[in-house]
Amino acid sequence: MALRPIVKYPDNFLRQPTCAVAAVDDGIKKLVADMVETMYAKNGAGLAAIQVGSNLRIFIVEASVAGGDENDHPVVFINPTIEWLSDDIESSDEGCLSFPGIYVPIKRSLQARVRATGLDGKEFVAEGEGLYARAMQHEHDHLINKLLIDYVGPLKRQMIKRKMEKMTDEEAEELQALGD
Ligand code: NI
Repeated sequence: MALRPIVKYPDNFLRQPTCAVAAVDDGIKKLVADMVETMYAKNGAGLAAIQVGSNLRIFIVEASVAGGDENDHPVVFINPTIEWLSDDIESSDEGCLSFPGIYVPIKRSLQARVRATGLDGKEFVAEGEGLYARAMQHEHDHLINKLLIDYVGPLKRQMIKRKMEKMTDEEAEELQALGD
């Protein structure tokens, strides 16, 4: 396993179209292992492959967010599709490892159902509510190149953009250490 640097906004890679995973082979397992290590190191609740420099359609969600024990392996979503979102919506502050230290209120469905392939190559369906539903929607956004900053108005967008352009790698590291 290896720690990978997080791609931060405004790096254009975050807007790169994503590609489906053809087969869950050793290369994919290695990438996922790196993602897990990187997410833990940065105290993230979830992470998409595109945030560590791969444009494959993969994201992970930390186990306790997904309703499990924090020592469990994160839930791995390969080629995920959102099957259903509840009509009831809640607004809550959201962070992203690609935007260290920045939190914006985002309206999300309270419940979500996502179909994906797991690390074992088998299809599964994840149903979650609250934080889990929010995390799945946030990470899925990364796969369609949608970012935190796309949810805010033009003034706040300019402010976040300027802040991110000025942010040094050292500052980003410090902010990421505080958690997602
Ligand atoms: Ni994110």
